[in-house]
Amino acid sequence: MYILDDEAKDLLATVKEFCEKEVKEQCKEFDVSGEWAEEMYAKAGEMGLNAIEVPEEYGGIGISKITYAALYEEMAKADAGFFTTMAVTNLALKPLIIGGRKDLAQKAADILIGGGYGAFCLTEPMAGSDASNNKTVAVKDGDEYVLNGRKCFITNGGIADFYIVTAMTDKSKGVKGMSAFYVEKGTPGLSVGNEENKMGIRTSNTTDVVFEDMRIPASALIGNEGDGFKIAMQTLDMARAVMGIGAVGVAQRCIDEAVAYSKQRITFGQPIGKFQAIQFMIADMEIKTETARQMSLHALQLQEEGLPYGKESAIAKCYAGDIAVEVALDAIQILGGYGYSREYPVEKLLRDAKIFQIYEGTNQIQRTVISRAVMGKF
Ligand code: CAA
Repeated sequence: MYILDDEAKDLLATVKEFCEKEVKEQCKEFDVSGEWAEEMYAKAGEMGLNAIEVPEEYGGIGISKITYAALYEEMAKADAGFFTTMAVTNLALKPLIIGGRKDLAQKAADILIGGGYGAFCLTEPMAGSDASNNKTVAVKDGDEYVLNGRKCFITNGGIADFYIVTAMTDKSKGVKGMSAFYVEKGTPGLSVGNEENKMGIRTSNTTDVVFEDMRIPASALIGNEGDGFKIAMQTLDMARAVMGIGAVGVAQRCIDEAVAYSKQRITFGQPIGKFQAIQFMIADMEIKTETARQMSLHALQLQEEGLPYGKESAIAKCYAGDIAVEVALDAIQILGGYGYSREYPVEKLLRDAKIFQIYEGTNQIQRTVISRAVMGKF
């Protein structure tokens, strides 16, 4: 449950209506085809959903983190791919704010407010969990950098208007030789590679992004040379709490579908929801989902208050991702044979839920982050 003021409740009602009537319905088909839902995304952009995290000082609506969490949950309940597109677009603004580049943050914010998209290009074929093992290089040439390399599994890779790109400016320094850059769509040398044909979140766009002698101005460097890894890690620390909320949205939808089904499905002369076996399953699904929701909101509240939140964000993302899969499996079990059928929505929810254990750091990586926060790195 969310504690929201009247203004936030009104905003939530508008977003909920759009998500339920349009996103949820249309994404059933786009999940099958894997096509980009052009009109639906255009409408979402007009409604400002691409920019819900943009702070007021950059022209955003400046809503609280708890309020945007409530909006994200509605998006994820309707379709996790839609949520992913929006959440990662907003994520891409964070490195610019973290890196103190108000000028570039303003440019990016204007793009998001105008309904555009951002992408965060950290991952590479040999640098997934081992994020510091970037092979992309950025070589300084006068007042420019020249980038060469390939990123993979990039959310919004094929549709982004701007990209945050990590690259090695000095390989000999290891993680301290990684830098972060701001790159706009259309930069010569930037191209979009293979698009992934994914198991779930099929309404989001995931591609390789390739740099071939791509020249960008030296002013595109975010922070100083060597700051890239820390900026990326700080970005992920912030963003993982939002991913927790995304997973909660999927889990909540599973509960909603399972409850509706269990009230109308008759066996042995009564709705299956009258059986304690089903009631206790629903109760356990609710315990897990509400716990994950509150953990994610707690991590966001810590951010709001300027308190440390890295461990809490990792717990939120990890726990919520794990329970979303468990809850989706339970929803399938409650629907029985129908749950296993593509005619009913819960098999999609399981496919969508799985990604939350993988992206923005696998749940094994979250456990590494959590154990290091508890035990220290030794
Ligand atoms: N904040 C600030 N600094 C940090 C940090 C953090 N959270 N984590 C690490 N650092 C700093 C360390 O302090 C260290 O610097 P010093 O030597 O000055 O102290 C430096 O960075 C190196 O740190 P580590 O030695 O801990 O680095 P590591 O190589 O062991 O890796 C890791 C740590 C946590 C495993 C990291 O590699 C990681 O998070 N991997 C997962 C990557 C990931 O989440 N990828 C997701 C891609 S984005 C995505 O999915 C978005 C999307 O499109 C959906």
